[in-house]
Amino acid sequence: MQIAEAILYSKQLEEVSDSSRLDAELLLCHVLGKPTSYLMTWPEKQLLMSEQQQFFALMARRSKGEPIAYILGTQAFWTLDIEVSTDTLIPRADTEVLVETALSLFVNTPFSNRSLRVADLGTGTGAIALALASERPAWEIWGCDRIDAAVTLAQRNQKRLGLAQVSFVQGSWLEPLSGLFDMIVSNPPYIDPMDEHLDQGDVRFEPRSALVADDEGLSDIRHIISAAAEYLMVNGWLLFEHGYQQGAAVRQLFSEQGYEQVSTCQDYAGNDRVTLGCWIK
Ligand SMILES: C[S@@+](CC[C@H](N)C(=O)[O-])C[C@H]1O[C@@H](n2cnc3c(N)ncnc32)[C@H](O)[C@@H]1O
Repeated sequence: MQIAEAILYSKQLEEVSDSSRLDAELLLCHVLGKPTSYLMTWPEKQLLMSEQQQFFALMARRSKGEPIAYILGTQAFWTLDIEVSTDTLIPRADTEVLVETALSLFVNTPFSNRSLRVADLGTGTGAIALALASERPAWEIWGCDRIDAAVTLAQRNQKRLGLAQVSFVQGSWLEPLSGLFDMIVSNPPYIDPMDEHLDQGDVRFEPRSALVADDEGLSDIRHIISAAAEYLMVNGWLLFEHGYQQGAAVRQLFSEQGYEQVSTCQDYAGNDRVTLGCWIK
């Protein structure tokens, strides 16, 4: 079988994927250990029997709905290549809005040149903490997650990317951390346990521990907003990613706890996605 013929099998993925051709190409590149440009340059190249078998095995997994990132073991996030596993969420493009917002807060302020202390709660793969570290080498960044295996994964990502100023620790939300922080960011679980989307698409393969929270998805956000006050410096910022319908509720939780300059930013589709507040007291 030639490379061009193998790519035609992408039709088998059309039911589960909006990007069936790209998925098939990525799986084939993974098998061949080559970049996508290789497929365009050598469409007539014959695959070895072992390569064909491996390709069809991966296609079978994808056709059952398994996310491409779990099959390949990696996901692009920000400018980084992040190792992923079924122990935690696959980093999403929308989460880059949280990174952008966090980076924008300390530009052209008296704090711009100082080394900030930053915490990423529910760090998962470490994607947010590592993206921030890649842009701000002087910042001291802590990532924490309740799941041991996620912490180990984040530590592997940190070592491979060589971002030495990030430390990952295991524990629930702020408990494993000490001292005060200039900024706390979090993409916590925020999906209502009854949400029908949990039975659809890629999220079926992701752990519930990374996805769902009680009280219509708001219980972890509520807890962190309350607990973070003791960990934030004066003028410190707390930022969350949340569901597109949760902006008003999260702003209210911030205001009830006495945070100021509370506002919500939209994602690339124009939906409410990130809400932040400043701790002035
Ligand atoms: C939505 S995922 C976000 C992962 C990663 N930060 C990202 O944006 O891709 C939520 C993460 O919170 C972690 N988590 C859930 N409950 C937690 C808790 N009580 N304390 C710390 N982390 C928790 C999960 O294990 C999961 O890794």
